[in-house]
Amino acid sequence: MKAEIIINKNFTIGNIDNRIYGSFIEHLGRAVYGGIYEPDHATADDQGFRQDVIDLVKALNVPIVRYPGGNFVSGYNWEDGIGDKSKRPRKMELAWGSIETNQVGIDEFQEWAKRADSQVMMAVNLGTGTPQDARNCVEYCNAETDTDYANLRRKNGFEKPFGIKTWCLGNEMDGPWQICHKTAEEYGRIATETAKLMKMVDPDIELVACGSSGLTMPTFVDWELTVLDHVYDYVDYISLHQYYGNPDNDTADFLSKSTDMDSFIKSVAAICDVVKAKKHSDKTVNLSFDEWNVWFHSHAQDQKVDKWQVAPPILEDVYTFEDALLIGCILMTLQNNCDRVKMACLAQLVNVIAPIMTETGGTAWAQTIFYPFLYASTKGRGTTMKPIVKCETYAASRNKKVPYLETSVIHNSNAREIILFAVNRSLTDDMSLDLTLENFGDCTPVKHVELYCEDLKAVNTPNLQTVSPVEQDITGSSGTTHSVSLKKHSWNMITYRY
Ligand code: AHR
Repeated sequence: MKAEIIINKNFTIGNIDNRIYGSFIEHLGRAVYGGIYEPDHATADDQGFRQDVIDLVKALNVPIVRYPGGNFVSGYNWEDGIGDKSKRPRKMELAWGSIETNQVGIDEFQEWAKRADSQVMMAVNLGTGTPQDARNCVEYCNAETDTDYANLRRKNGFEKPFGIKTWCLGNEMDGPWQICHKTAEEYGRIATETAKLMKMVDPDIELVACGSSGLTMPTFVDWELTVLDHVYDYVDYISLHQYYGNPDNDTADFLSKSTDMDSFIKSVAAICDVVKAKKHSDKTVNLSFDEWNVWFHSHAQDQKVDKWQVAPPILEDVYTFEDALLIGCILMTLQNNCDRVKMACLAQLVNVIAPIMTETGGTAWAQTIFYPFLYASTKGRGTTMKPIVKCETYAASRNKKVPYLETSVIHNSNAREIILFAVNRSLTDDMSLDLTLENFGDCTPVKHVELYCEDLKAVNTPNLQTVSPVEQDITGSSGTTHSVSLKKHSWNMITYRY
């Protein structure tokens, strides 16, 4: 199969906001307890954080981590997780049916984020919570005033504010499963009043309103229109969430899901702009795709887990090679929409539908999906180019014209590098890809990283990295036209220097 890409230095989509390589830690399963925090572990630091996990998070270069939920946040009292640990309450956690010990809260998590070279994207409770609770939390985290919540933070040992810039106004409030789920009208009102109070305490924060929990939610579009009608002037972003699965074992269809994501993004951007026009506003609301991943492998086994345990092993999907291919395609989709998507969170980061897994008392290891994220996050920084792509297509369930080639091209002008990300979606044919690079001068291919497995269902384990990338230095000739061969069902990253 043949494909062609033409790239011109002057034709760009936009600059990537590095926060599109964000992730998510929820108080859910073993994400916090036994994931990032395990005081008895051999690598635990002075605060009980696993250093082996921090090392893997640092390798992924995750600039922002959403916390503490998720569905969890809609029943959470953030004040349960501050101050003297011995006085913190054990609670029935209703979203996931577990016991929450509150040994980790914002006091600890903001410190973990610093140690992982990341920032916190903090979510407030708009389920059982009130605008007052949210406003108090902003004061506790960010205020320098001589007032009660800022002084409570000082009393708890933190003289300096945490300086949390990005805040989510609740989580998935459109979902009937959500604790204190709301109609769009109800949510639009409480989000607006909460946003006003939070920005009165700290005008420098950025706010994310809840959009739809998925493209197929029956309220999608009406939800966004109504919520934004209320909250438009007070927020900076609206959220999108989407998980994908392959329960029917149709890999070609599964690999097309990133094109559904692309239309979801473009629809939400259009909705934001409709409200902008209706309000005669000169402000643009951008997108925070703050939950996305593959999630379906663990559904059946999670039904069998007993309730009211501390940190039960739930949502522990073990990812296959084909999952890694879709994750690669999704990351390209986020890069290609960088003009509107300013933040995105791979949900989640450790143990719970995660690229990083841990054994309690044992090793931390990388799932298949770790690798496309690693390269996108570390090398996909700069400007996304707007290429002309020519390739054959196939029909999937939603999209009747899925290109066999998924690609994104990133220009890093500081490094004088052009990074080509590419997935060949064909399950049978290798692809011969011709590339023209215009207006860069002569370019030389220097590296080809390939993720390939004959077995689409191959997985990694604590002891065996069956699915791991092969990095190859290449010595192609210098010029403006290049060719590269992409194996059937493979993920690739090719670096060119000029
Ligand atoms: O990430 C797992 C769950 O998925 C989150 O708690 C929720 O927001 C979403 O439904």
